[in-house]
Amino acid sequence: MSTEEFANLPRHVAIIMDGNGRWAKKRFLPRYAGHPAGVESVRQAVQLCTDLGIEVLTLFAFSSENWRRPQQEVGLLMELFIKVLDQEAEKLHRRNVRLKIIGDRSAFSSKLQDYITRSEALTKNNTGLQLIIAANYGGRWDIVQATQKLAVQVQKGLLNPQDITSEHLNQMTSLADVPEPDLFIRTGGEQRISNFLLWQLAYTEFYFTDTLWPDFKRDAFKLALNSFASRQRRFGQTGEQVEKSK
Ligand code: IPE
Ligand code: IPE
Ligand code: MG
Repeated sequence: MSTEEFANLPRHVAIIMDGNGRWAKKRFLPRYAGHPAGVESVRQAVQLCTDLGIEVLTLFAFSSENWRRPQQEVGLLMELFIKVLDQEAEKLHRRNVRLKIIGDRSAFSSKLQDYITRSEALTKNNTGLQLIIAANYGGRWDIVQATQKLAVQVQKGLLNPQDITSEHLNQMTSLADVPEPDLFIRTGGEQRISNFLLWQLAYTEFYFTDTLWPDFKRDAFKLALNSFASRQRRFGQTGEQVEKSK
């Protein structure tokens, strides 16, 4: 266990792990070499969250738009995904981590789908960190599939359209059973959401860093947590109201 202490820890951290390709190019390596290099940063992020007792870590691993990349890179990413699940699922299980994959997995090979199902089943009763991997995930897809589920309920006569609340919609999204992200981190210098968690980031604190994902190790993550700790979350209220209610 770590003895590090942070005031105001987030319950849920969501990360866009960006900059692998540029990390590799800086070293005159093929872009693809950046992806396996980023796996160590994933390990360190999981370890830090476990040490600090952060409840949920959501990582964007592959977006619904990433299919547009060169076929070779997509193929190598799928292979890496299988390899990492194969090598890490057991270790995560020993650390009491519960693994969940969100996104449209129907587009994946049956081999990858099997690995996903098995890793989730292995870790499903664990009570430590919830590690959520977004793969073939898109924020718009999530809202659309949630809407489709609500429409079915309406069609069946279980719900009146005028009674639909944001809570109903939230319950149908991929992150229905976890608290909303408190802290969003994007590495790699870009300042955009790239169709990540559109619905769930409504009141999340944003943190952007130029550090490329394979360089985003424990200390870099701690800087993000320090930044989060120094912010005042107002949720529409005034700063004075927030101070008073402490
Ligand atoms: C993020 O790194 C990983 C994935 C999108 C799979 P990139 O591959 O996007 O790296 P850059 O942005 O090209 O440097
Ligand atoms: C977002 O990164 C997706 C992941 C990190 C998995 P991208 O590198 O695909 O984002 P854009 O295309 O630059 O916005
Ligand atoms: Mg990128």
